[in-house]
Amino acid sequence: MTALDSSILLALLVAGEAPVSGDRLAKELGVSRVAIWSRLERLRAAGFTFAASTRKGYRLKSVPRALHPALLDAHLRRLKVTAPVDWLASVDSTNSEAERRLAAGAETPFAVLAQTQTAGRGRLGRRWHSATAGNLYLSLAFRPFIAPERLKPFTLWMGLALCAHLEAACGVKLGLKWPNDLLAADGRKVAGMLTEARLDVDNVRELVFGVGLNIAGAAKDFPPELRAAAGSLELATGTRLDPNRVAAETIAALFEAWESFSEGRWREEFKSRWARYDTLTGKSVRVGLRGDPVAGVVDGIDDEGSLILRTGGRRRQVIAAGEVTLRHP
Ligand code: BTN
Repeated sequence: MTALDSSILLALLVAGEAPVSGDRLAKELGVSRVAIWSRLERLRAAGFTFAASTRKGYRLKSVPRALHPALLDAHLRRLKVTAPVDWLASVDSTNSEAERRLAAGAETPFAVLAQTQTAGRGRLGRRWHSATAGNLYLSLAFRPFIAPERLKPFTLWMGLALCAHLEAACGVKLGLKWPNDLLAADGRKVAGMLTEARLDVDNVRELVFGVGLNIAGAAKDFPPELRAAAGSLELATGTRLDPNRVAAETIAALFEAWESFSEGRWREEFKSRWARYDTLTGKSVRVGLRGDPVAGVVDGIDDEGSLILRTGGRRRQVIAAGEVTLRHP
């Protein structure tokens, strides 16, 4: 990616349907018209199409389906995201990459995302399938210096913020399956979250929030064993989305969600968002992690985001972490 590519795309995005002349682009960006023309040719080769008229100028007609660093950067600039966001063509895992960068002393906050992951990680040691098909594999990194117990509702809050954002931005109502899955109305998993932290006894030193969001994945992009369970925003909405726009807007929303979490403003909306997006209350479930799985009926969450389970009679159990399976799906 070059800054010039991103600046040209930003100017065209901001102009929308109005054409922008090569002359104006050259003047505003301080380069020659030939330089603009040759950048546009390179962008064309990368899958962009421009409507060009000799008198009026250029208009952005269509964009690539894959995440493209210059287009993503242009959207992030349009949205005024100031934290560094690094695009990688391929990496083992964006969470591992963020952890390596934290260990090397990178300033926070920052984000790293990849077009594909060779060892994408899910919860409980699972793999996260990371096809190159216009999905988002993203990690945000922070050094929060907060007490570890304050972190308890963090993943849940980020998931609720993501549901609220995607409903507003893409018109899709996803549900949150405690604690880390975002599901479409048909139950297919559209996103998963993986939070990892380095803790001291009284401080969270480093925090990595990873999210895999299937934006443009079609059923055929998932391996056969995942086809019944995996979904994407495009499958859920039945519309074609621009992965770069969705990715940039999601990154902006997640940085905002982090800010409201670290400043303590999240509590204002936590309960109402839970009421809107929760998929489990009233359901008969089994929750397992270590030891014997616990069966019961979900009775909501407590103030810290732990799951409350009615386990028979008046007995109730509060569960801070676990894997939920529906008993009568
Ligand atoms: C889950 O549902 O089990 C969590 C999946 C989290 C996947 C994301 S993709 C980006 C980030 N990097 C990883 O290796 N994992 C997370």
